[in-house]
This record gives sequence, C-alpha cells and structure tokens, in this order.
Amino acid sequence: MNGVARFARTSRALHWTMAAMVLAMLFIGMSMVASLGAYHSLLSVHRPLGILVLVFVVVRFVNRQIHPPPPFLQDMSSRERIVASASERLLYLLMFLQPLVGWGMLSAARYPIVLFGPVHLPPILPHDLRLYEILRSTHTALAYGLCLTFMGHLCGVLFHTIVLRDRLLRRMAP
Ligand code: HEM
Repeated sequence: MNGVARFARTSRALHWTMAAMVLAMLFIGMSMVASLGAYHSLLSVHRPLGILVLVFVVVRFVNRQIHPPPPFLQDMSSRERIVASASERLLYLLMFLQPLVGWGMLSAARYPIVLFGPVHLPPILPHDLRLYEILRSTHTALAYGLCLTFMGHLCGVLFHTIVLRDRLLRRMAP
C-alpha cells in the first residue's frame, strides 16, 4: 500500500483479534478481583477467553514462521530495531505464559477449570497450596508486565505515526 510493505493478511487479522482479546482479559481480570458481586460471572468468561489466547498465540507463532514480518522501516536505527524485536518477543512470551500460569494456579488449587457447561480442562500441576500462592502472585506480576509492554508498544507506534509520520501503522492496518 503506497510503497509501505505490509504484514500478511493472516498476521494482521491475528494481531487485531489478539490485541482485543488480551486487553479485554486485562480489564476482566482487574474487574474480577475488584468486584466480588460479579466475580463468578467474570471468571466464567475469563477462563475460556484466556485459554483461547493460549491457542491463538501458538497459531500466531506458527503463522509468523510461515509469513515472516516485512523488513523494518529504513529510518529505524539499529538500536530501535533491537528494542522493537525484543518487545515483540516479550509480548509473545507474556501472552503464552500468562494463560498457562492461570491454568496452572487453578490446577494447584484443585479448582475446577470449567471452559463452558460440562467441558473442563484437566489440571496441569499437582495439588499444592504453596505453589498456588506463588502462581497467583506470578499471574498478577505478569499482568503488570503485559500492561507495561503493551503501553511501550503503543507509544512506539504512536510516535512513528504522529511524530515521524512514516506510516508505520499502515504495515498492520486491517
Ligand atoms: C492472556 C491471558 C490472561 C490475562 C491477560 C489475565 C489477566 C488477569 C488479571 C489482570 C487478573 C487480576 C490480577 C490481580 O489484580 O491480582 C487475573 C486474575 C485471575 N485469572 Fe487471569 N488472565 C489470563 C488468563 C487466565 C487463565 C487462562 C485463567 C484460568 C484458566 C485465569 C484465571 C484467573 C483467576 C482465577 C484470577 C483471579 C484469582 C483470584 O480471585 O484471586 N487467567 N487475570
């Protein structure tokens, strides 16, 4: 599009779908612990949507091997390219670890991992309340990590699009 190399169609679709899912998960998670009244109904959305994030992140990783990203814009310095690649890897890692830790912490608490109706996931860790405690704190820490990395990613894209006006956003435009 107008000389700007773009991400593949599947990569763009996965990018925007996952951005919406992860943002929704962060808001649902925070609302869940803040509102006891809505806790159970929010949790019944949080679990299946979180597992869907796990499935999508694997699909997205495979898609990235099939459709590698277009080369960086020429105006990006080598330092900026290193930071951009590192933040993308960190986002992938966090999107993979966060749902696994969620699944693991419920397993360690022997809490039923209901997807919908009678469909349950098996526990992936032994019953251990000390382990639950560690994973519960890890789930919160990873959520902060996801928020911060996401904000950094957003600031970088906005800086390119609004200040440098190099049409970086067009590479990922739907
Ligand atoms: C991308 C995926 C996920 C994100 C971004 C996410 C985010 C969050 C956030 C922000 C919180 C609140 C943490 C706090 O304030 O302390 C939370 C709590 C929670 N999450 Fe997740 N989560 C994800 C996946 C999952 C999965 C897959 C499960 C389970 C299968 C899960 C189970 C839970 C539970 C049970 C709580 C509340 C625990 C409590 O009441 O103490 N999460 N999540």
